[in-house]
Amino acid sequence: MRVTENHLLDRMNRSLRDLRISVTDRCNFRCTYCMPEEKYHRNFQFLKTKERLDFAEIVRLAGLFTAAGVRKLRITGGEPLLRPALGDLIGDLRALPNIEEIALTTNGILLGQHAAGLKAAGLDRVTVSLDALDKKVFKQMTGGRGGLGRILDGIDAALEADLTPIKINAVVQRGVNDDSMMQLLERFRGTGVIVRMIEYMDVGNINHWQESDTVPSAELRARIGERWPLRAERSNYDGEVATRHLYEDGEGEIGFISSVSEPFCGSCHRARLSSDGQLFTCLFAAAGTDLRQPMRDGATDEELFNIIHRVWARRADRYSEQRAELLRRGRAIHKPEMYYIGG
Ligand code: GTP
Ligand code: 5AD
Ligand code: SF4
Ligand code: SF4
Repeated sequence: MRVTENHLLDRMNRSLRDLRISVTDRCNFRCTYCMPEEKYHRNFQFLKTKERLDFAEIVRLAGLFTAAGVRKLRITGGEPLLRPALGDLIGDLRALPNIEEIALTTNGILLGQHAAGLKAAGLDRVTVSLDALDKKVFKQMTGGRGGLGRILDGIDAALEADLTPIKINAVVQRGVNDDSMMQLLERFRGTGVIVRMIEYMDVGNINHWQESDTVPSAELRARIGERWPLRAERSNYDGEVATRHLYEDGEGEIGFISSVSEPFCGSCHRARLSSDGQLFTCLFAAAGTDLRQPMRDGATDEELFNIIHRVWARRADRYSEQRAELLRRGRAIHKPEMYYIGG
């Protein structure tokens, strides 16, 4: 590769450090806020194999992103463990220079069978999306798919494989699972697994989000603190999405991801690559930049790097900071769906 090491800054002086790579738009769950069954039924047209980047294409692009400053990769979906031979991809990504960490976000249902192999291939850690332990609430939120027992076994397998620190992502929706948070926290207190509660966001256009569906983290923190006193902990790194808190009694850590009530765009170092090779500079960006076509048309590494460079240099995204104003003005914008852009 002939491109030189280059420190990229966007228009708000943010560097490019994390790349989130979606490897498929398919999922075996039908979470009501992400892929409601009515729309994502058996005849829904997901991306075809040839429309998706193959592993060699992903690795090539990831290599160019590392030359642009990326040090951390996160593999997402849809559900990434549905992509066959994912360990091969992890192994190739691991071999790239300058990659400090590779993590994976999964719904956990296939984790039991893959944890050890993924670790052996070079995966560092996993984050499991799990919104509730209450059977009824879980079933309602995942569209009746999946099985709690298998997810918990998957988390155990990940612990055994040392894919740690393991994090649980719980999207909190008022009146749906906010009352189930205590049960979730109780289950993982003292296990080393870090539960993070995510404010429900207006991702995409199909979830019909309303602000009243979101439970602000401050409210949740107060509710939790009444039972288990908490104290704030310093971030692990600049731009960490979750605000860390420790149980005063030493039983571990929890986190709050508060993109609605406390936006963190000022330190957003993330780019997203969809499974069909579109580069997005924000979770809420109206459109991405196609890297697949130029690559398939024979673009050189340098040409592809220049596209990445240009896109990042122009970047001024700060949607979460603008959300309130946009909503007040009633401005509807097209936003990519979570299962496609990978969260
Ligand atoms: P760590 O490496 O463990 O700190 O992971 P992370 O928090 O960067 O990644 P993860 O995928 O676990 O992020 C958790 C959730 O936070 C995502 O699924 C999104 O819902 C939300 N999130 C992550 N990044 C962003 C972002 O850039 N903007 C917004 N608005 N939300 C984000
Ligand atoms: N708001 C917040 N988080 C969401 N996720 C999916 N949809 C939303 C939403 N509307 C979470 C998933 C998963 C991650 C990829 O994003 O639960 O943890
Ligand atoms: Fe649920 Fe994640 Fe699948 Fe969406 S991609 S349906 S949030 S498990
Ligand atoms: Fe980054 Fe966009 Fe999220 Fe802001 S809204 S933190 S710019 S991804």
